[in-house]
Amino acid sequence: MRSRPEHVVLVGAAASGEAGVGRLLATALRRPFLEIGAAPRLPAGSGDGREASGAAELAALRAAAARAEPAVIAAPRSLVEGAAGQDALAEAGAVVHLGSPPEPSGGREGAGTPALAVDVGRRPPSEVVAEIVSALRRRIVLPLRERGYEVVVGPGARALLPEVLPAGARHVALVTQAGVPRDVETGRQTAVVEIGTGERAKSLRTIEELCRAFARAGLRRSDAVVALGGGVVCDTAGFAAACYLRGVALVNVATTLLAQVDAAIGGKTGVNLPEGKNLVGAFWQPSAVLCDTDLLASLPEREWRSGLGEVAKYAFLGAEGLERLPLVDQVARCVELKASVVAADEREAGPRMALNYGHTLAHALEAAGLAGEGPDAPLRHGEAVALGVAFAARLAERLGRIPPERVARHLEVLAAYGLPSELPAGLDAGALVEFMARDKKARGEGLTFVLDGPDGVEPVHGVPAELVVELLERSAASGARRTGP
Ligand SMILES: NC(=O)c1ccc[n+]([C@@H]2O[C@H](COP(=O)([O-])OP(=O)(O)OC[C@H]3O[C@@H](n4cnc5c(N)ncnc54)[C@H](O)[C@@H]3O)[C@@H](O)[C@H]2O)c1
Repeated sequence: MRSRPEHVVLVGAAASGEAGVGRLLATALRRPFLEIGAAPRLPAGSGDGREASGAAELAALRAAAARAEPAVIAAPRSLVEGAAGQDALAEAGAVVHLGSPPEPSGGREGAGTPALAVDVGRRPPSEVVAEIVSALRRRIVLPLRERGYEVVVGPGARALLPEVLPAGARHVALVTQAGVPRDVETGRQTAVVEIGTGERAKSLRTIEELCRAFARAGLRRSDAVVALGGGVVCDTAGFAAACYLRGVALVNVATTLLAQVDAAIGGKTGVNLPEGKNLVGAFWQPSAVLCDTDLLASLPEREWRSGLGEVAKYAFLGAEGLERLPLVDQVARCVELKASVVAADEREAGPRMALNYGHTLAHALEAAGLAGEGPDAPLRHGEAVALGVAFAARLAERLGRIPPERVARHLEVLAAYGLPSELPAGLDAGALVEFMARDKKARGEGLTFVLDGPDGVEPVHGVPAELVVELLERSAASGARRTGP
């Protein structure tokens, strides 16, 4: 998976005098605009001037593409002429050809998004830009009848906030955290309320503070709460929105990979108690979710990896070939799958448990202090989920539910995301199994796991604890052999 949001490269924009389209697009996507001018061609007979000018354009494109912040880059059409230019374009991100579409034979298989061709003709630039923006984004509807809503995934999706807020909302409480990019506009009178970071902020005390801040801001039933942040902000702001005045509208602007593919969608909100995680909460659906992939550019590496574990999980819930898609499509595919599971089981009575694939072991690792948040945690939540997914595959194979090739596919996907699949050496398998036995999903004799099988991923009860201990120890021994003494 590309580990960062892609640039958008407009080919032909500079050369055909359409840089105006590029600037307008950059404004619509709230991105910087970089223009690569076509280097002047030297007169015929002056040696290799053509190659030299082409090399300058290529170098300028590569330098622009190397910038971490996603941008709109206008590139001259000459770059499409050579193989090196085509490769550099595909590497840079989503390529949009302005004017006539490129020759089919000229298109090379690139690592990035397939090129899009947009006819400029005599159309107003705003119309051209609207077409490009709509092609770059994905819209997924969560079909929950009167509680249904749309999730918009893609670059600059945060710009849609004013239009997805309820028309009658005059005041907005924007709940966020220090460190979360705050470049959003609501188009309403807005009170910004900051909460703390980490699981400790997911508390009833924070809910009281939020509700009091909403009251001070004069929020009424017709107004709205915006959650701008990761899962902690979405869970907490969502629960406060569900409680305040017995429920006000909520819009999630998800800023972590984990929140975009999971926490912001589906209406589960809540906070922790000293007695356990997520013990108090409510089902409260947002009225819209914006997953602006550009906001992920500033995500610290550890948070990125944490989200990847959840993304990898979806590869086994129906998103075959997920890891080969561009970032926007990966997020959108995960959202589609989550939306379909939630639509079938809004209140987690059954099928929604499939979303817990890999989580039985992940929660046990977290309870044992082997995974969690904070700089000292050996594993992030997503890495624990990855270990849980690999373990669930091996367990399913031992129970005769899946063939060895399916286990191999699990390991292949996890490796593609750079995620671990072998447990750390020296772990106490017995202690982990004790934590698993206390899992919310446990029922009757034996342990409960969500496992792959002929009918897909589903909860399986009565898994013998001895088998789980044996497989845990085998994986830890294999991990130890791999890391060496
Ligand atoms: N409600 C659900 O269905 C659901 C599903 C999965 C997880 N969750 C919950 O989600 C929480 C974990 O969420 P998370 O992994 O998003 O962690 P998080 O919300 O704690 O965010 C991680 C860190 O990244 C920072 N951050 C957020 N966006 C950023 C950005 N764009 N740039 C830089 N920094 C940024 C945050 O301030 C925070 O410090 C857990 O509490 C979990 O229980 C809920």
